[in-house]
Amino acid sequence: MRHVLARGLRAVARRLLPPPRRDLRAQIVHADARASTFFQAIEYVNFEAVEGDILECGVFGGLSLSLLAHGATFDPKGMTRRIVGVDTFTGLPPSEESHARWEAGDCASIHGWHPLHKPGTPVTADLTRALFAECRLEPPVLYEGRFDAVFPRIVPDPHRAIALLHVDCDLYESTRDVLEGVAPALQDGTLILFDDWFHYKGHPGRGEARAFHEFLAAHPEWQAVHWRSYATFCNAFILVRR
Ligand SMILES: C[S@@+](CC[C@H](N)C(=O)[O-])C[C@H]1O[C@@H](n2cnc3c(N)ncnc32)[C@H](O)[C@@H]1O
Repeated sequence: MRHVLARGLRAVARRLLPPPRRDLRAQIVHADARASTFFQAIEYVNFEAVEGDILECGVFGGLSLSLLAHGATFDPKGMTRRIVGVDTFTGLPPSEESHARWEAGDCASIHGWHPLHKPGTPVTADLTRALFAECRLEPPVLYEGRFDAVFPRIVPDPHRAIALLHVDCDLYESTRDVLEGVAPALQDGTLILFDDWFHYKGHPGRGEARAFHEFLAAHPEWQAVHWRSYATFCNAFILVRR
């Protein structure tokens, strides 16, 4: 009788409680070839005691931001960092450079694998907040808007320092606006991860690579030291103050 009662209570509890999501983080790590680099990037800025926040420019459905937050959770050096994301959440703006696959408006709705949402679901900041909640991660700091409009409002106050910058906005113009926008918060040792470095068939005068080369030419106080290339299209640099 006791067993029957216990089974009944468990069945009721299963219906009332949200389904367990303990394996969600593991699924996201498993699905993303960038995960180990994100974790090691955080280990790097922690070990080198580079001050500041972890900032992602180009959040989309929140998967990479959740990985960065996941990595930060296991900080062995105990540095406290905010997890910050900036996006219009309306997809790619137009660009003067054409790419073989991208079009203005891409990324306005979910495409590809997402653990919570079907392809075609409109992207909003709340999707990322929900993903963090399901992953049992602290809520991220999210800013909604174009980079050139958002950064003058948030840098250097409240974001005075950036330790790790994940640039995942695909386009030359967007990357240019990110780099100029975050310039006052860059640190000696800031690690910059470019998600789309080798797109445009690796052309150094297009896309994110073009924007970074122009930024370095305009800011001779910064030298870029190559850290690593990773996954399919990505490349990373450490900023060193001359
Ligand atoms: C490829 S998605 C980001 C993917 C995400 N980091 C991930 O790995 O799951 C690119 C994002 O950049 C955003 N974006 C591009 N240019 C932007 C701009 N100028 N201002 C704000 N957001 C922009 C788009 O809205 C889009 O969500």
